[in-house]
Amino acid sequence: MKVAVYPGSFDPITYGHLDIIERAALIFDKVIVAVCINPGKQPLFSLEERVEMISRECAPFSNVEVGSFRGLLSDFVRQRNARAIVRGLRAISDFENEFQMALMNRKLNPAAETIFLVSQPKYSYLSSSIVKEVASLGGDVAGFVSKRVATRLREKFFQTGGEDENGGERSGRFSGVG
Ligand code: PNS
Repeated sequence: MKVAVYPGSFDPITYGHLDIIERAALIFDKVIVAVCINPGKQPLFSLEERVEMISRECAPFSNVEVGSFRGLLSDFVRQRNARAIVRGLRAISDFENEFQMALMNRKLNPAAETIFLVSQPKYSYLSSSIVKEVASLGGDVAGFVSKRVATRLREKFFQTGGEDENGGERSGRFSGVG
C-alpha cells in the first residue's frame, strides 16, 4: 500500500489544502494529513480544533486519515510506513524553503520522497495566514475556506458564528479595531 503524509500547520485548512489532499488521494492508496504540533508557534486554532476541522472537510475522501505529530516529520513518516511526503507549491517564493525541507527530510529519512503538487492558479495566492488576516478584519472568506471553517473563524475573531452585513458581529475580540 502506497502511503503519503501531507504535513502542515493547517491553521485553518483552506481550499488550497483541500485541493492538494484531493489530488494526492487520487495518486496514493492512503494519505495521512498530519498536523504539526509546533511548541514555538501560537496557532489561532488548537490542535484539537484543527484536527476536527480537517476531519470534517476530508470526510468525503475514504482514503484520507488525519493525525498529528510532535518533533520530526521524518520520524512520523517512518512510524506510519509512508513512502512519500506531499507538499503543495504555490509560487517560486515557496520553493527555497520547500527545497531545503525536502533535502533535510531526505537526509533524515532516505526512504521517503518529497512529492510537490503544484497549486491550481486559483489557489496560488492562498495561505492560512492571509485568510486569518482577512477574517480578522471582517472580510468575506467564502471563496477560500468552507462554510464551516468560515464560521469557526468568525467565532474566533468576533465570538459569533452568525452573519451580519460585514460577515460577523463587531462585538468580539476585534471590536473597535481601526
Ligand atoms: O503548513 P506549514 O506551516 O508550511 O508546515 C510546515 C511543516 C509543519 C511541514 C514543517 O515545519 C515541518 O515539517 N515541521 C516538523 C519539524 C521537522 O521535521 N523539521 C526538520 C525538517 S524540515
